[in-house]
Amino acid sequence: MNIEWDKLGFQFLPARSNIRFSYKDGKWDEGKLCTSNEITLSIASNCMHYGQAAFEGLKAFCCKDGKVRIFRPLENARRLNSTIEYLMMPQFSEKKFVEAVKKVVKDNIDYVPPYGTGGSLYIRPVIIGTTPQIGISAATEYELIIMVMPVGPYYKGGIKPVKAMIHDDVDRAAPRGTGHIKTAGNYAASLYPTSLAQKAGCAVMLFLDPKNHELVEEFGSSNFFAITADGKYVTPDSPSILPSITNKSLMQIAKDLDIQVERRAVSKTELETFAEVGACGTAVIITPIGEIIHHEKVYRYDQENIGPVSKKLYDRMTGIQYGRIADEHNWMEEL
Ligand code: PLP
Ligand code: COI
Repeated sequence: MNIEWDKLGFQFLPARSNIRFSYKDGKWDEGKLCTSNEITLSIASNCMHYGQAAFEGLKAFCCKDGKVRIFRPLENARRLNSTIEYLMMPQFSEKKFVEAVKKVVKDNIDYVPPYGTGGSLYIRPVIIGTTPQIGISAATEYELIIMVMPVGPYYKGGIKPVKAMIHDDVDRAAPRGTGHIKTAGNYAASLYPTSLAQKAGCAVMLFLDPKNHELVEEFGSSNFFAITADGKYVTPDSPSILPSITNKSLMQIAKDLDIQVERRAVSKTELETFAEVGACGTAVIITPIGEIIHHEKVYRYDQENIGPVSKKLYDRMTGIQYGRIADEHNWMEEL
């Protein structure tokens, strides 16, 4: 194993093991660590045909004191269950989920980027329907696999601002607006619009509400937040965006820092007025947005540096994650 920790981006890098649970005859098994990165599936598995698949994303950090801790794994366990309930998949014990995450992190402890490299161990649980069937109905057999990999920044450049493009140009089904779920289909449908953004030199696509295209919703990879001219933290409240654990944590951190928080409908016309705009999520952490393109219109923010309020939030969040700042809310789970 020879990993250049400071050169890591956000790519799949096989680690020592993953942990797998199978659901059969109405129950989940006890799970086992597995060193293979392959699976064998029937060609008729309904995850492939009908997208009965869901995933999560969370991170483990090597803290200043040398201990490895996981950021809010119970929140991911809860969100996974809420997603899979909608996808007609069997619930997975939240306690067992947290235990499984700890077990796979422990088994791959030497893949956690050391303190000071800025990296983390990305944990990706994925659940798929495996029953061979061609009629549209829920599977009766499932696999839950939790894999891990060391990662660095999602967008090259760390906290350097990136460009975004608003999606309402293509005359196709709205790729977002599918509810509070984190499932394969939502992301596949964002590939084409995101490729349009990338052609225009933008790293991310910003989606508007699917009904009227008037409200700001979220980015393809993350939630949206903005800092108003009078210093408030504003983030969309919408039934069609993913309830981000990072955003929930940032709202708490903002309150702790005496920054007023407004979770409400955000009109696209407000983009003109914001002092700072950012993307937030597990993978992107806080990525400042330097510019948003909407047809001929361009909204400009600081294109060189992260804004002062976003920086305060970023420092507090990463300070807690890497154990530099007291974890007042008990977000960091010991192994
Ligand atoms: N929105 C979308 C579409 C995402 O893919 C993600 C990342 O998982 C988020 C928001 C942020 O969620 P979280 O902060 O829980 O990672
Ligand atoms: C995450 O942040 O964990 C996600 O799943 C988002 C994805 C763009 C990697």
